[in-house]
Amino acid sequence: MAQQSAESGIAVHHGAASLDVSPLWPARLDHIGMATPDPAALAAFYERVLGMTVSALPDGRHLLAAPERRLIIAEGDARGHDFSAFALADRAQLARCRRFIEGQGAALLPSPSPLFGEDAFAVRDPDGRLAVFGLRAAAGEVGASAALPGRLQHVVVASARFPQMMAFYRDSLGFLVSDTVHADDGKGGLGEVNVCFLRADPEHHSFAVFRAPKSQSDHFALDVPGWDDIRRWADHLASHGVAIWWGPGRHGAGNNLFFMVKDPDGNNIEISSDLETLPKGAAGKSWPAGGRALNLWGPVWERDAPA
Ligand SMILES: [Fe+2]
Repeated sequence: MAQQSAESGIAVHHGAASLDVSPLWPARLDHIGMATPDPAALAAFYERVLGMTVSALPDGRHLLAAPERRLIIAEGDARGHDFSAFALADRAQLARCRRFIEGQGAALLPSPSPLFGEDAFAVRDPDGRLAVFGLRAAAGEVGASAALPGRLQHVVVASARFPQMMAFYRDSLGFLVSDTVHADDGKGGLGEVNVCFLRADPEHHSFAVFRAPKSQSDHFALDVPGWDDIRRWADHLASHGVAIWWGPGRHGAGNNLFFMVKDPDGNNIEISSDLETLPKGAAGKSWPAGGRALNLWGPVWERDAPA
């Protein structure tokens, strides 16, 4: 159910009460698994530019680690995003989540990540990507030196199966819906949902899905402490010849400051700060088409434009 504000055109919608008891709360994005045709080259970029330490995993994949950000890079197609790994609070919550997700009819698969304990599990989403749930292994942080602070905070995908993806992450996995962005219904009102921001703790989103002609990775974001760090990151990236291609700006949905750059494969990396928080059970906003949901300050990234 949604009530639309006459002044802004932005509606506040009310989450389903049943999901306020989601067993996934609280969960945080912990690391992601990426793929590339040239893992060594991509790992070298993340080491040099994002201040991450490279180490080899027993199966040949590369682990990139710095405080609060970890990536696993495997050989595969360019811009591959194989899995998103979410850390839960403790063993009891992990068991509750496993029962809940299994109860929704999802098939449980082995975790593809060595960074979680052995009781971690995975489920395959409608686009074929894995969502992984587990507890951080006791080994803790690898890689002590980072050029600048930045916590891996959210990951976003584009999907040609948008309705199925939104339903899967919300209903089968238990993420809560924060904001949604809608197509125009032809009468200036809210049409079908085109973007869904999802959370599993008070941070506005740790995962989001955009409707798109092709299912593919979209971006991941590092959360930095404040505006000064946005400036420091921009200067740092510039010193490595990495140019901003979108921003700086402020997203309407999530209200975070941002800019975006690309790695050598074309993966989009967002530097973000001041993401809003939304307590469990709080209503998100429903945004009309028109771009303000994506950038209050300037132009938007038109994801459905031909590549
Ligand atoms: Fe983002």
